[in-house]
Amino acid sequence: MTYRFALENQDFSDYASGRVIYNLPGAPAFPLRLASEVFQRAEALLGKDRPLALFDPCCGAAYHLCALGFLHSGRIRSILAADIDGQAVVTAERNLGLLGPDGLNRREAELREMLASYGKASHAEALESLKALRKRLPEGGIPGMVFRADALSPEVLQAGTGGAEIDLVFSDVPYGQLSGWQGAAGAEPPLYRLLESLRAVIRPGTVVAIAADKGQKAAHPAYQRVEHFKVGKRQVTLLVLE
Ligand SMILES: C[S@@+](CC[C@H](N)C(=O)[O-])C[C@H]1O[C@@H](n2cnc3c(N)ncnc32)[C@H](O)[C@@H]1O
Repeated sequence: MTYRFALENQDFSDYASGRVIYNLPGAPAFPLRLASEVFQRAEALLGKDRPLALFDPCCGAAYHLCALGFLHSGRIRSILAADIDGQAVVTAERNLGLLGPDGLNRREAELREMLASYGKASHAEALESLKALRKRLPEGGIPGMVFRADALSPEVLQAGTGGAEIDLVFSDVPYGQLSGWQGAAGAEPPLYRLLESLRAVIRPGTVVAIAADKGQKAAHPAYQRVEHFKVGKRQVTLLVLE
């Protein structure tokens, strides 16, 4: 895969999981250069002249959503996220909260307290990172909302999103290694069922970017598959709902 947008392999240490952004033990952290590339490819496909409303129905700790919020802050107007796992939802809420002044202030107070108690260099570095991340946010931050849901159920997704406008779905779906698919059993493969389920909450023209392991194919007759590439052990597919 050749990077078309995230041309520079920049230093992402301010965004490292567990530094300012909260870590969920056992949860995979999505590579940020790839996240940035996928976001920008999707943005180019959408061709909108306003910031995007982003949704991830299998968000985990919302690590890549939170990092994208900081990286592309002026180009994202809201972030909606869901996960079937209660612990993931709690961490995702804290992470999306970092995209607003209250959450960031709370995190700063936490880090200051840890620095005062333990005097570790890592806490001082995290405070520096927080300062850098704060500068990237628009005034008032980016609104985010997280709900617990089985994304394979269209009714549950519909109830959770509450009719919110969605321009881009960007999901790093379960791989079956650190995190497997959970939820209602069905005859079709889970990724097909996720695409089916998403039709209940998105409109034609919405871009859906799916990162998956090489064993899962992101394809569904209601969507046009517009881009597909492999990187490491992942494959990324960009689809447009017709
Ligand atoms: C690969 S992880 C996502 C990691 C995330 N991108 C991040 O950066 O933190 C996949 C997530 O899908 C969730 N999941 C599994 N089955 C699900 C389902 N039916 N509905 C919603 N979420 C599900 C898992 O709980 C896990 O948190």
